[in-house]
Amino acid sequence: MSDAWLSDTRRSYDEDAPGYAQKVDGLLAEQPYLRGCLALFAETVQRNGGGPVADVGCGPGYVTRHLHDLGVDAFGIDLSPEMIAIAKRDHPDLRFEVGTMTDLALETGSVAGVLAFWSVVHVPDHAVPGVFAEFRRVLRPRGALLVGFHVGDDVEHSSEAYTGRPVSIDTYRRHPAVVEGWLRDAGFAIGATLVMRPGGDRPGAVVFATSGPASAQTDAGA
Ligand SMILES: C[S@@+](CC[C@H](N)C(=O)[O-])C[C@H]1O[C@@H](n2cnc3c(N)ncnc32)[C@H](O)[C@@H]1O
Repeated sequence: MSDAWLSDTRRSYDEDAPGYAQKVDGLLAEQPYLRGCLALFAETVQRNGGGPVADVGCGPGYVTRHLHDLGVDAFGIDLSPEMIAIAKRDHPDLRFEVGTMTDLALETGSVAGVLAFWSVVHVPDHAVPGVFAEFRRVLRPRGALLVGFHVGDDVEHSSEAYTGRPVSIDTYRRHPAVVEGWLRDAGFAIGATLVMRPGGDRPGAVVFATSGPASAQTDAGA
């Protein structure tokens, strides 16, 4: 792992994995739009015949669990060994592995879906095309991709974790059109984009895409 941003991100989440897990505990219960997006994503995967789905940057695993409970064969991958340890502790029946989205240890064309919820937010612009190419590589034809991120056009640097411990991590806010452009360049067709809290505090967006031409999209919207 030669890139400093990657090792800084891993160290930062290792440092504060319990703090992050506590912060997001019960989060989905308060997020109807995200639950709706995950339900649509699950439906899309299932309508395409099902199969394994990688939750990339899964953190403590609660979204992997939610997908599993929706009937999806979901497993989690995360850069941070401490985060993966918490995911395994809290969801011992699910599969979690340490890994990086910049070089996924998955066979080409081996997964039916990739979920990247607020994990690409730590990838600098120059590395995003490579990450989206990696998502495209591991997805089957007509595979489903769901990417969630903060909306904006700045970078936030954090030097203090939720628990007050010193960390060093960058979080990139991006406009949906920029993310959609990178996805198209990587060979994805965009199905839909949902912007949450537009113009409000910490807006977020979710982009549904498929690893195929637009004509291959399902009417589920992804
Ligand atoms: C903001 S958290 C999001 C966690 C979870 N997806 C959620 O929605 O709560 C970002 C997660 O992405 C992981 N991450 C960051 N860069 C990564 C990379 N290159 N490969 C895999 N995981 C990464 C971090 O370790 C962290 O667990």
